[in-house]
Amino acid sequence: MADQDRRHFALLLEIQRRLSQERSMARLPGVVMQTVGELMDADRSTLFLLDAETMELRACFAQGVAADKAIVVPLRMGLIGTAILQRRTLNVLNAWQHPFFFADIDGVTGYRTDSLLVVPIVQPGDGRVLGGLELLNKRSGRFTPEDETIAEDAAHWLAARLGDGDIDARAIEDKLEALRKWIDFDRATVFRVDAEHGRLVAVHADGAAGLDISMNMRLGIAGFVAMTGEPLLIPEAHADARFDASHDRRTGYHTRNLLCVPLKDSAGEVLGVIQVINRRDGTFTAGDLDLLSCVAGAVAIALENAILFEESERQFRSLLDTLAASIDARDCLTAGHSLRVAQVARGIAGVLEFMDHDMDLLEVAAILHDYGKIGVDDAVLKKEGKLDAEEFGHMKTHASMSFDILDRIRFSRKYRSVPLIAASHHENLDGSGYPRGLKDHEIPFMSKIISVADVFEALTADRHYRQGMPVAQALEIIDRGVGTKFDAHIVAALKRYLGNGGHAELGLKTE
Ligand SMILES: [Fe+2]
Repeated sequence: MADQDRRHFALLLEIQRRLSQERSMARLPGVVMQTVGELMDADRSTLFLLDAETMELRACFAQGVAADKAIVVPLRMGLIGTAILQRRTLNVLNAWQHPFFFADIDGVTGYRTDSLLVVPIVQPGDGRVLGGLELLNKRSGRFTPEDETIAEDAAHWLAARLGDGDIDARAIEDKLEALRKWIDFDRATVFRVDAEHGRLVAVHADGAAGLDISMNMRLGIAGFVAMTGEPLLIPEAHADARFDASHDRRTGYHTRNLLCVPLKDSAGEVLGVIQVINRRDGTFTAGDLDLLSCVAGAVAIALENAILFEESERQFRSLLDTLAASIDARDCLTAGHSLRVAQVARGIAGVLEFMDHDMDLLEVAAILHDYGKIGVDDAVLKKEGKLDAEEFGHMKTHASMSFDILDRIRFSRKYRSVPLIAASHHENLDGSGYPRGLKDHEIPFMSKIISVADVFEALTADRHYRQGMPVAQALEIIDRGVGTKFDAHIVAALKRYLGNGGHAELGLKTE
């Protein structure tokens, strides 16, 4: 390992050590910033978080600045904003001379910025920007490329802690990629403990992407490490009694040597293990084991976040199913309507190439769009046939009631706009809709999708008191509303979806 790598590694270990001692999530970003600032010999370090609503950056941890001096920077100003908008690290020697430098902050704090290093904090997975970290005035000259790498690593850690926990396998792969720069090994596998079934399940396996690898937790080196929580360095695998040779026999792969380290959560419980096999140029050393332990800390954070996220997502989905079922129970005439509207909306969004993140939001808003109906009187809700003017007026309140009820749920950031989207599904482009009479651009785009999906579903679905309309006839009715009620692109997308398999997927009749 080169000297520079060694120093970098020592710094990472130090950050890791301090992180593992900090139990408070709220204080964690401060600990990271302080450590990074100290290790880099920077005079000041500041963590900025992006407020997506106001498009401002707020300093949530500013070393050396009095707490009453709030630092708020418009996203489009300054070097920190530039780094965040361009999603790249900026390393500047004379900040005052830089065209993008925003001198107002120095004005507020009475500080003079010379050298500056800023790194964006980007959430792995969907690539959303969460904020950025800024280091000011390196005491010993200018920030080096090595400092950049350390700050970027710190930004990764912060992203894992600050994000929605929406972390996919890429976060883990990134860490393994970094490890490869230091150790030339053949394969790495990350296992997660499935305590319920007593197994280790691979969440990442080099050379076996897409394969379902799981094994008995009582067998092999990985099992031993998971059970004891102690790391192992095995110089000769086949000479070790704990090694399970059956895998090699089955696959024809030859395991010579390996390293295996536990992945522990912040409470010290073993979440999984990381195993690295066959050092290409000889055997693993104690230094390699230290290095892997350091990387394991970061992988454990990613894994813990993924597990927490999965659990909360599961909990959220079950709550959602319960809510959908409760609308059905209340409004048995249209049972299943909400879920089918969500299905049609997903189909439309698929044609419009929505990202997963937006797709999830749309689906939840679609499932809950009519939730306000639980507040509509039975006599109106369950009336078969046409409603009179007064009844219709009462029925219309369901849209604003959807907002009032859903707005009381504490949705996570990803789903924050569910109440607004759900409540706007009866708005029309020409402003003739309800509850607010919004016009074209005032209506959330996802509400426009739900609106089309809602009408399409209502026209084509069979109800116990009438047959569903043929698709062509329903589309004719919808076509008549294009431009006044419905968005032309969305209606076109619906037709493309129906033509590309949506018809069959929805189980619609051909005639
Ligand atoms: Fe509705």
